[in-house]
Amino acid sequence: MKEFKIGVIGVGGRGALARSAHKLEDGCRIVAGADVKSKAFEDFKKHVGEDVFTTNDYREVLKIKEIEAVFITSPDYLHEEHALAALNAGKAVYLEKPMAITIEGCDKLLKTAMETRSKLFLGHNMRHFPVVLKMKEIIDSGLIGEIQVGWCRHFVGYGGDAYFRDWHSEQKNTTGLLLQKGAHDIDVMHWLMGTYTKSVVGMGMLSVYDKCKRRPETEPGCAKWSNGQWPPLEQVGFSPVIDVEDHNMIMMQMENGAQASYMQCHYTPDGERNYTFIGTKGRIENVGDYGKCEVHAWTQRGPRETPDIVYKLKEVEGGHGGADSGIVPSFIDFVRSGKKTNTSPIAARNSVAVGVLGHKSMRSGCMLQQIPKLPEKLIEYFKNGQE
Ligand SMILES: NC(=O)c1ccc[n+]([C@@H]2O[C@H](COP(=O)([O-])OP(=O)(O)OC[C@H]3O[C@@H](n4cnc5c(N)ncnc54)[C@H](O)[C@@H]3O)[C@@H](O)[C@H]2O)c1
Repeated sequence: MKEFKIGVIGVGGRGALARSAHKLEDGCRIVAGADVKSKAFEDFKKHVGEDVFTTNDYREVLKIKEIEAVFITSPDYLHEEHALAALNAGKAVYLEKPMAITIEGCDKLLKTAMETRSKLFLGHNMRHFPVVLKMKEIIDSGLIGEIQVGWCRHFVGYGGDAYFRDWHSEQKNTTGLLLQKGAHDIDVMHWLMGTYTKSVVGMGMLSVYDKCKRRPETEPGCAKWSNGQWPPLEQVGFSPVIDVEDHNMIMMQMENGAQASYMQCHYTPDGERNYTFIGTKGRIENVGDYGKCEVHAWTQRGPRETPDIVYKLKEVEGGHGGADSGIVPSFIDFVRSGKKTNTSPIAARNSVAVGVLGHKSMRSGCMLQQIPKLPEKLIEYFKNGQE
């Protein structure tokens, strides 16, 4: 097999994920990287070699003919522009979640991928989380019957560290954090419940972080991670503009008749994504979402403290609880040999659609919103593995 050449757009921050694709022993080489911040190239070069081509203009990367695939790990509001350009340049695309910040943006990407026949892959790494895979395995085994209800409580303990200090804090860059963070969980709920959302209603508000001290407008925004940043109201250095909600709640009516809810709060002392799925024969719930976590199953009547089955998960190496080391090879195998993927561009679009319309609902007096349907031709194209 000839060497598989890769480019990266947005080499800093999440761009670190792409570095694990640089595996010369497997015939994969990162040959170029783009970033608007030249400082980001220092670390990038340490990992992929001093001779890698770097540029501040992502279009220079797309001009390199030998590059077959690009990782797009730039901020959300650039996904649509960067991915459209990459697909039109004939590159296979690894696009970070969320697919885009509007439904129209996602639909344009799906259509362009189908028309150009450039492969599109979405970085929904939670579909490689060991705890999510275990819950899917249990549900698919039929142990808890037909799933009727799914709930996710998302305690974002690091919300103030990561999302209220830089571009994340503004609707114009993200649409909102229900979409930004929730795209993951909505996608997981769709996947595990085997369906998509038909309609959504939401409530949410900016309840705490609007009262925190801001940085001066002249200072650049930057995430700052520390457990010492507590309690929430005493945090400082937040963005001058915060117009996204710091807690979000949505309820979803699914196409198959089931129902689900997702709740997200950015100022909890602890952090976890806590899912429960309730079927006609029982219920499962995760306890912990990273490392040595557990999935509890109740299949008989009895107290919550004594689940009937406890599945103990071992710690898996790699970023995001081992998910990152699963998703990168999945992308490479998909592009190089057409291997089936856990993730799906249609599902990614549908999670964005719920996020966008959940926000619309909470910002317009909790009005129920209908998710627009995609043309069958597009659905079929992606269902058939983009062949
Ligand atoms: N799947 C996951 O677990 C996960 C985790 C973290 C972030 N993300 C996603 O990754 C993306 C990036 O997030 P981040 O926190 O790393 O953001 P970030 O602000 O750190 O941006 C990432 C890199 O993109 C660069 N960049 C900005 N504008 C650019 C441009 N016009 N051209 C080229 N490069 C540009 C930045 O300088 C930075 O180095 C987001 O979409 C986020 O949702 C996903």
